[in-house]
Amino acid sequence: AVVHSHQFVIQATPVKRLCNTHSTITVNGQYPGPTLEVNNGDSLEIKVINKAQYNVTIHWHGIRQMRTAWSDGPEFVTQCPIRPGGSYTYRFTIQGQEGTLWWHAHSSWLRATVYGGLIIRPKEGDSYPFPKPKRESLLLLGEWWDANPMDVVREATRTGATPNVSDAFTINGQPGDLLKCSSNGTTIVPVDSGETNLIRVVNSALNQQLFLTIANHKLTVVGADASYVKPFTTSVLMLGPGQTTDVLITTDQPPARYYIAARAYASAQGAPFDNTTTTAILEYKTAPCPAKGVSIKPILPSLPAFNDTATATAFGKSFRSPRKVPVPTDIDESLFFAVGLGLQNCPPGASSQNCQGPNGTRFTASMNNVSFVLPSSFSLLQSHQQGIPGVFTTDFPAAPPVQFDYTGNVSRSLWQPVRGTKVYKLKYGARVQIVLQGTSIFTAENHPIHLHGYDFYIIAEGFGNFNPKTDTAKFNLVDPPLRNTASVPVQGWTVIRFVADNPGVWLLHCHLDVHITWGLAMSFIVEDGAGLLEKLEEAPADLPIC
Ligand code: C2O
Repeated sequence: AVVHSHQFVIQATPVKRLCNTHSTITVNGQYPGPTLEVNNGDSLEIKVINKAQYNVTIHWHGIRQMRTAWSDGPEFVTQCPIRPGGSYTYRFTIQGQEGTLWWHAHSSWLRATVYGGLIIRPKEGDSYPFPKPKRESLLLLGEWWDANPMDVVREATRTGATPNVSDAFTINGQPGDLLKCSSNGTTIVPVDSGETNLIRVVNSALNQQLFLTIANHKLTVVGADASYVKPFTTSVLMLGPGQTTDVLITTDQPPARYYIAARAYASAQGAPFDNTTTTAILEYKTAPCPAKGVSIKPILPSLPAFNDTATATAFGKSFRSPRKVPVPTDIDESLFFAVGLGLQNCPPGASSQNCQGPNGTRFTASMNNVSFVLPSSFSLLQSHQQGIPGVFTTDFPAAPPVQFDYTGNVSRSLWQPVRGTKVYKLKYGARVQIVLQGTSIFTAENHPIHLHGYDFYIIAEGFGNFNPKTDTAKFNLVDPPLRNTASVPVQGWTVIRFVADNPGVWLLHCHLDVHITWGLAMSFIVEDGAGLLEKLEEAPADLPIC
């Protein structure tokens, strides 16, 4: 196995999109940042040097980080931020994961522009569980604001209002030629006739779930979140932020140029969203050249409607593991987390600017009625490992304080979130089940829920209120998919299982960044096991402190 060493310099760089230039935080001057390409079993050491004027951390989204929680990256969870002028080296090893992951800033909303791909190929000498593709390409889906992204976040956090919607979605940082001043940079995916090619898709957007399709071509899904899946064929993908999907396409269409197009799956009713379409171009080498002065537009696909929950849900339910998998049974920790948004009464005297929800309220979000607050004096991991008191409490509830019809727009008095840095402790090796139940207190919405440090099996999902008497019959304990981010359907639920075999502190949160800002998060502490190889490693000497 190889050790890959990289240097990431975080810096402000002028980036021009949609006809305007903005000072953008980038890695090594690149937007999106560099793609890391490794093989299963390799190690990485990435020195991050912060030359920007903001605090930053980098998270390696989906990497299991076995015993190396210090390298996971979420600020104030596993480390304090890297201050302007500071640096920190992340070190970790890929253990058994293959496919597509990505990395992103995990500090405020910097990941809007600070992100990149992380491609994990099979071990040297191993092969894919499908015929070797002729070519591979990576499509990173993102969002672009025609403004300084840090002003966007300041605005959103200051007012507590829904954030400004983005001005464009992007593929590899480019809005695509349907938008103004964008034709030059449009991503081209070159192909030849009669090939089978692998396309890796990542939803790195900040706040939006996305549909993606390619005109006239079928997509065969073979992997997601760096695990292989039982191949299935579809015409459209839906990815929540954080999720990745690997597809094979066969270039069996007449040589021409075909649009690859993505746009919003907007599950929340009435909330504003970016309704632009971003494009890349699948270009056959032998596509006829347009005559001089004539432009031939690529062939456009049709995309599902913005609110097409049926298509989004059917896609999610198509995933299976390639074979029978060891789903944990004899559950030790049976947890029920009600997740969703809400409204909070504004403190008396608060300015109306800070309270832009209806009737003098502000937006909030919670899990089991706890709105998560990050600590600021120590990271949770440091506090846990060194026994520093007063940083967190261990009273995160295993179930909601009150039960009600989660799909109904019930009285807000039932659901007034308490703010706190509450964690839930798990013994090493505990077999955990979590029912993630979406709530509809103020608005119902699909939430992409991401767990750090783990992959989990998604054993069932459904609409309505989870019913422990009847819905257990729907559990797939044979070949459920292994993921790191689960879509909790709008007005519905998802059940996940995992074994707590990785000691450390692990964030569970909605990957719509605006929701994490509002508190839709919690953390697990997984205690050390007894064995030598069951303990968290020592903190690295260069770990940033607060
Ligand atoms: Cu991809 Cu906590 O993040």
